[in-house]
Amino acid sequence: MNQKTLAVYPGSFDPITNGHVYIAERAAAIFDELTVSILYNEHKNATFSVDERIDMAREALKHLPNVKVDSFQGLLVDYMRQVKSRVIIRGLRAMSDFEYEFQIALMNRQLAPEVETFFIVTDPKYSYVSSSGVREVFHFGGTVQGLVPDCVFKKLSEKFNIKN
Ligand code: PNS
Repeated sequence: MNQKTLAVYPGSFDPITNGHVYIAERAAAIFDELTVSILYNEHKNATFSVDERIDMAREALKHLPNVKVDSFQGLLVDYMRQVKSRVIIRGLRAMSDFEYEFQIALMNRQLAPEVETFFIVTDPKYSYVSSSGVREVFHFGGTVQGLVPDCVFKKLSEKFNIKN
């Protein structure tokens, strides 16, 4: 039987950046289906609500027909079992990401040995781009054009009431 492989790209996406879009594009070219899944974490002070983050991600990824956007709460491995996926996608920017990612991947393997984490290396032009960096630069009046999708740029302007 030729079963389709569903991959899950989890994260906070607060907000989605062009670096995230790049990783989703690479993953969508390899796997049959990709779900970008946004963590709803009530303990983490997010800038954007989950609904806002979902809307921005949907808009930013609408050119990819095999990509869906969803959200999850609690353990990622529970969500993986729920959606019947065994492939986690994470992006790597620099060595500094590796330690954190390695720890998450091993923890997830301990919890769900059947699930595999795949790392996709970013395009060097996005190696310094992070959601927190984008929020901060924007907040203090710097330009983030080219680093985030247009819909995110618009939403940032509304949120911070700034025209950068
Ligand atoms: O974009 P982020 O914040 O680096 O994404 C981190 C994320 C959402 C992948 C990770 O925090 C996560 O999966 N959290 C859900 C809770 C969980 O499963 N923890 C066990 C692994 S440490």
